[in-house]
Amino acid sequence: MASLNTQSRKHARKQQIRPLAGSLLALAIGLGVATAHADDALPKLPTKTPLKVGFAQTESNNPWRLAETKSFKDIAAKCGWQVVMTDANGSNSKQVSDIQSMIAQHVDLLVFPPREEKPLAPIVLQAKKAGIPVILVDRDVDQSVAKAGRDYITFIGSDFIDQGHRAGDWLVKATGGKAKIIELEGTTGASAANDRKKGFDEVIAKNPGMSIIASQSGDFARDKGRQVMETLLQAHPDVTAVYAHNDEMALGAIAAIKAAGKQPGKDIQVVTIDGTKGGMDAIAAGELGASVQSSPFFGPLACDVAQRYAKGEKIPTWVKVSDRFYDKSNVQQNMQYGY
Ligand code: AHR
Repeated sequence: MASLNTQSRKHARKQQIRPLAGSLLALAIGLGVATAHADDALPKLPTKTPLKVGFAQTESNNPWRLAETKSFKDIAAKCGWQVVMTDANGSNSKQVSDIQSMIAQHVDLLVFPPREEKPLAPIVLQAKKAGIPVILVDRDVDQSVAKAGRDYITFIGSDFIDQGHRAGDWLVKATGGKAKIIELEGTTGASAANDRKKGFDEVIAKNPGMSIIASQSGDFARDKGRQVMETLLQAHPDVTAVYAHNDEMALGAIAAIKAAGKQPGKDIQVVTIDGTKGGMDAIAAGELGASVQSSPFFGPLACDVAQRYAKGEKIPTWVKVSDRFYDKSNVQQNMQYGY
């Protein structure tokens, strides 16, 4: 589980929510909160049913994204939401125009994972100007442009820096503190990629026997991860470990390692983040060493936050999701959490 003490996010928000269901805001700690009636006047959210909610997805190219979208589809009826959904197909500009069209349709609430931190920040301000409250899920925006609690209600998501720490700590143990690492980064400019890199690099910097010999983006996609790994393996045949920012790229890297005649899990240790079913199967097969879970199930959390906000309750500026951790010691008994 993620540490309760982690306060390392760059905009230093300290609130945390551990359970994915139940009294979601009961464990919030820290100072920053958002209400519809604060001085800086976040837009109000009506308590009517149905509530028209816009959910603007970034892309649908992996199990994590599909699980996230499904979580919103599943909660819609229970939450009294009529959901308008879009898919930006991996394009920042399409995600922005999707959200602009939702603003033009006067949705009551906007919920979205910003594909990248900077390009998606101004649209948050446009929504606020149009009087539409925003909940960000999964990834955050650049806090120097749009700020949680001031420009949007809250960020619901994992501590990506902590995920990087946990992946790094596992690798230090698994390799006895000696490794030549290839890092496969997620989408350049995404908070998930920036922070997962930061957290992992911090651990590696404290271990003189470990070095990152190459680091390149595989855009969170399996095939891109495989292609990048193929190229990097040729340039760095001495590699002994891979850190991939998500399971899909790790699975692509495993395919490339096997194609190069090496054994993942023996010749090259692989560690990653997500906890998908595919990742868990690869752990069970001994090819993937470990995966830090990154929960995609934001639908119920967003529903709970929206209902509380509509009633005028204070919402912490970061509703922090705690994540499991899988390696060969526990993967079999946790298979039910794979997605
Ligand atoms: O933002 C979360 C990341 O985005 C997930 O790790 C990845 O699989 C997804 O595309």
